[in-house]
Amino acid sequence: MSVPAAILISGRGSNMLALIEACKAPDFPAHIVQVISNRPQAPGLDIARQHGIDTRVVDHTDFASRAAFDQALGRALRESGAHLVCLAGFMRLLGPDLVHAWHGRMINIHPSLLPAFKGLNTHERALQAGVSEHGCTVHFVSAGMDEGPVIGQESVPVKPEDTPQTLARRVLEAEHRLYPACLRALAQGRITPQSPQIQS
Ligand code: GRF
Repeated sequence: MSVPAAILISGRGSNMLALIEACKAPDFPAHIVQVISNRPQAPGLDIARQHGIDTRVVDHTDFASRAAFDQALGRALRESGAHLVCLAGFMRLLGPDLVHAWHGRMINIHPSLLPAFKGLNTHERALQAGVSEHGCTVHFVSAGMDEGPVIGQESVPVKPEDTPQTLARRVLEAEHRLYPACLRALAQGRITPQSPQIQS
């Protein structure tokens, strides 16, 4: 049984691609039914199409309010047939109704070891803070930004010569390993918001 999943993006789509590639393995328990972007120009849309994945744009600038955008996005997700949703560089905050509707079925990847460095510019802030370890987190989506039960984390060392760019690259490689592993666990029904940590 393979679970249908949708991916929400706003930009480059490298995590999206990691999920698409992982889903190609015959034993992977999920498949991607659609990639939805809130930005028509997101480079990830072309990458998805090149991999034969259906795409859709729900442009937030077409809507007068956040609630109206959320309603359209919710409709698009239902129409996609997805049972699970992966946010992969999706740069809009979702309102409580949409988050509630997908409770336990919507996950996000964030480029820090949460709860450290919520929000933007995580690599710059990690370097400024002088931490020796940085990394990424996959978590269930809840109403607060970059909150919600943590499913998995992968840490990477911070090196003395790191710039935000070199650190971002190291973290991104970890993201591309972590996210498919977390989607696999979710699709297999091995995790819930009450019991979110992957048991091996
Ligand atoms: C990633 O670092 C992800 O953790 C964050 O936004 C970035 C998106 O990159 N939420 P990409 O579009 O997946 O390449």
